[in-house]
Amino acid sequence: MRAKSERKAAIIALLTIVFATPSVRAADANKPLKPDELMLMPGDLLGKRLFEDKALSEPRGLACASCHDARAAYQGNNHSPVPALARFSSPGSLGSRKTPSLLYAMRSPPFAFTTKKNDVTGLPEIVPVGGQFRDGRADDLAAQVEGPLLDKREMNNPSREAVVAKVRDGAYATLARDVFGADLFKDTASAFGKLAAAVASYEATARFRPFSSKFDEWLEGRALLSAREARGFELFKNPAKGNCISCHDGGTPGGDDGEGPAGAITGLSRNPKDWLFTDFTYDVLGAPRNPRIPDNADAAHYDLGLCERPRLADFAPAGYDLKSLCGAFKVPTLRNVAVTAPYMHNGVFRTLREAVAFYFTRDTNPERWYPKAANGHVAKFNDLPIEHHRNVNVRQAPYDRKPGEAPRATDAEIDDIVAFLKTLTDRPAR
Ligand code: HEC
Ligand code: HEC
Repeated sequence: MRAKSERKAAIIALLTIVFATPSVRAADANKPLKPDELMLMPGDLLGKRLFEDKALSEPRGLACASCHDARAAYQGNNHSPVPALARFSSPGSLGSRKTPSLLYAMRSPPFAFTTKKNDVTGLPEIVPVGGQFRDGRADDLAAQVEGPLLDKREMNNPSREAVVAKVRDGAYATLARDVFGADLFKDTASAFGKLAAAVASYEATARFRPFSSKFDEWLEGRALLSAREARGFELFKNPAKGNCISCHDGGTPGGDDGEGPAGAITGLSRNPKDWLFTDFTYDVLGAPRNPRIPDNADAAHYDLGLCERPRLADFAPAGYDLKSLCGAFKVPTLRNVAVTAPYMHNGVFRTLREAVAFYFTRDTNPERWYPKAANGHVAKFNDLPIEHHRNVNVRQAPYDRKPGEAPRATDAEIDDIVAFLKTLTDRPAR
């Protein structure tokens, strides 16, 4: 045993010399690199240190990694009493949205309005796309970083300056200076931006886009899908059945998202990078209200998603009906969806099967999903004020059914789709 661990230590030491630049070795003189840090560039290593730093919250104890857990596809709830919501640093305080996985998040383009072919009419229309957070309120990954750090309920730092001061006085200040220069901490404003860029750079490293699922192996001809999984994939693509691919498709609408053409929509690409299972657009699904969210104790409280995004009007074309975006949330990737329960922005569905079944029976059997209102009717779309019900997508398969019509998929077909979605789980990193 000992010989083996000594050999491992020697290999690690050697790799450290080969791969780490001298500056990183100096910075980490009293903190040896972990095996999974050997291949990181210095800036990415700094990003990882920041991402895992529990001193960056008030009170201390909460890091980005507390909620974005590498062992759970970089999502999680930090041991929250309410599974759908993350526990924040201030005692007793919870968030209001389910933590998304950070895997493949770097592929979301900067927030913008762009052209997408309307699935129902076939005509091009202008739609919002991209950004970070479920409402796209951060333009990109670097802009996102200050969100959790400064949010009062979340990591609760009083200011950018306070964050920079913690890093300056902390364990990896030398590494930070090595990466960005000895003067880094002289100008706090620019220092914050640089530290945020390091986090974003780390979040774009290979471990956040592994493309190592069974589905990827199948695309590359190295694995077979079972009959059930293959049926599920066909249902997923079939415009008259799941039609899931019209939103959970290959990449950004309009094509170039940096890594190959958005070829998945044709169903033909064999390149895993074309298969992100989101086009990063937004849609209004009308998911049921989650009564376990503390904010929802107030009946007048609603999470309206995209239409509450700050500066939305700055991005939208003149005359765009911004109210039509109330209730819209970003289409999440379905990669790793089998290990990221609960589901939807409000975490209302505990199981993947529930989430998939909702699509097919929302309109045929609404009583299955929504409570009864005082007048005895089913309170459909009860997580949105009535004025915004018109925004809910009721025109596009699979959720274009009328009461009395048959759902577009049977129970067995729903099981097939779920089986297919389970092939999208990346292998645990080695
Ligand atoms: C207390 C738990 C928690 C902590 C700590 C936390 N996050 Fe998050 N993160 C969330 C939640 C919840 C969301 C979704 C919020 C929303 O959409 O409004 C989110 C969203 C994100 C997103 C957007 C992903 C996407 O697909 O849109 C990124 C990127 C991210 N976090 C990175 C970070 C970084 C970097 C840190 C540390 C500086 C951090 N998070 C700290 C819970 C957390
Ligand atoms: C018109 C666009 C659209 C279509 C079609 C669509 N989805 Fe979605 N999907 C979304 C959006 C938007 C969300 C996020 C909604 C929210 O957070 O409230 C979502 C969320 C999900 C989630 C939850 C993921 C998570 O991490 O919380 C699953 C699972 C899912 N979709 C599966 C499917 C399946 C299976 C199909 C086909 C039967 C499908 N979707 C069709 C837009 C779409």
